[in-house]
Amino acid sequence: MKNIRIYKEKDYESVSRRAATLISAQVISKPDSILGLATGSSPIGAYHQLAAWCQKGDVDFSLITSVNLDEYVGLAPDNSASYHYFMKKNFYSNININMQNTHLPDGYTSELQDACKHYDSLIQKLGGIDLQLLGIGNNGHIGFNEPGDNFILGTHIVNLTESTIKANSRLFDKEEDVPRQAITMGIGNIFQAEKIVLIACGHGKADALCRALTGPVTPEVPASILQLHKNLTIVADEEALYGFPEDSRFSLWIY
Ligand code: F6R
Repeated sequence: MKNIRIYKEKDYESVSRRAATLISAQVISKPDSILGLATGSSPIGAYHQLAAWCQKGDVDFSLITSVNLDEYVGLAPDNSASYHYFMKKNFYSNININMQNTHLPDGYTSELQDACKHYDSLIQKLGGIDLQLLGIGNNGHIGFNEPGDNFILGTHIVNLTESTIKANSRLFDKEEDVPRQAITMGIGNIFQAEKIVLIACGHGKADALCRALTGPVTPEVPASILQLHKNLTIVADEEALYGFPEDSRFSLWIY
């Protein structure tokens, strides 16, 4: 487990700054990196920080390619609850990335299986992901890989669990409006990334994070597979790390 680095930060703002620093280090060291990106509340602060640095001229995204983890099924890209919309609003429109080099799975097509295959071959054609940014669901999901009986390798369609529908309903007018399906990169796509940075904030994530990092590796907690990854960095606040064993199994940074 010495492969797992944990940054324990005091609050969301410092988590965001730390995650942004790690991503900017990647972009500076390899300007044509392939970044795997996430949506949700966890990465927004990091995206805003990176955008501020980009606008000052300190980070350059002009050669970067991005591939996002997931998208809801059935939402048009211009729907304000879609992940296409989220990424444009919170990141792409504030940085100098070439929009043609930004990719999300297509959840709006009627040919969903083709869209899954297309996404897998896109990632392969790009040569894989250099740095994958992740959040974690309260139920231990990564991307939309929900708890189940096996790890699914490639991009696939998933039925969202009640807990995910509930957690994500905050971004919709009402819970009934949350799509019941999503298209997501698989565990194999995520695991093959050279580096993984996972952001976790708030009490609600403490149990999932602890089970993911200290419990058995099991598809019932999809994030637990990350224990086996060669280069994993966790950036979490004190609340998400509450009750976490600060033992020698992890290289732990405390600030
Ligand atoms: C989003 C994604 C999800 C979220 C997770 C946490 O693209 O893949 O796995 O990272 O649901 O969501 P937040 O950050 O909103 O708590």
